[in-house]
Amino acid sequence: MPGSSLPADPTPSCRPVWALCSLACMEYGACLSCLVFAKSRSTSSAPCLTTNVRKEENEQDEQDNTMIRSRLSEVPYLPSSKDQTLNIMKLLEGRTGRLADLGSGDGRVVFAASSVGFQCTGFEINGVLVAYARSKARWKGVPSGQVTFVKKDFWKTDLSVYNNVTAFLAPGVMGVLGEKLLKELPDGARVIACRFPFPSWPQQSTVGSGLDQTFAYDISSVRSHLRKVPNAEV
Ligand SMILES: C[S@@+](CC[C@H](N)C(=O)[O-])C[C@H]1O[C@@H](n2cnc3c(N)ncnc32)[C@H](O)[C@@H]1O
Repeated sequence: MPGSSLPADPTPSCRPVWALCSLACMEYGACLSCLVFAKSRSTSSAPCLTTNVRKEENEQDEQDNTMIRSRLSEVPYLPSSKDQTLNIMKLLEGRTGRLADLGSGDGRVVFAASSVGFQCTGFEINGVLVAYARSKARWKGVPSGQVTFVKKDFWKTDLSVYNNVTAFLAPGVMGVLGEKLLKELPDGARVIACRFPFPSWPQQSTVGSGLDQTFAYDISSVRSHLRKVPNAEV
């Protein structure tokens, strides 16, 4: 992972920032100033990566860093509001079992769901947020069997063991996410989408309005709806 490739010695220009943002360095394998530098030049090469990381590790690290940067720009971190979290919980009423939060951020949705008995996993690509959520779980004394935070790309994760899924992501990814969930989730699963609905799925119900609007979908209903739509992939 990028963390293992933390440059031993940052470039002189970025050394002060490097010292201040060691957490970010561990996460991205480059200091923030170098990431900004790379972004401003539309290149995926940050100076402290290209000049300091051992050559044989560089290529793989570049791929990882580029992937993480593109995922983070695709779906930035934005925590759910209190109302949004309450809306999610309303749409989960009467349900039990395993829940996956796709992009769990600081873990607030996971903690809310675990407090009513769900066995939760938060998938999060940003290691700093994962570390924060894990320490919050320890501080709250939540048993590890009830809540797990994993630093993992949910796109690369098989979600078939979850019968509840929550997602607060970005409008541009909802169509592709829908295809993945339809392939993997069991018939009895419910999916809760926050703020951004799935483009071609029929909603089971919705609560809230504006930025806090939240949508519930039952996979069995989505499948039977899509079976009637010509050329739809079910
Ligand atoms: C809008 S935030 C939502 C955070 C949290 N679910 C909440 O409601 O407060 C989206 C989160 O998804 C994470 N994320 C984006 N792409 C991801 C991926 N492919 N795998 C795991 N997490 C991802 C981001 O780092 C960010 O923390």
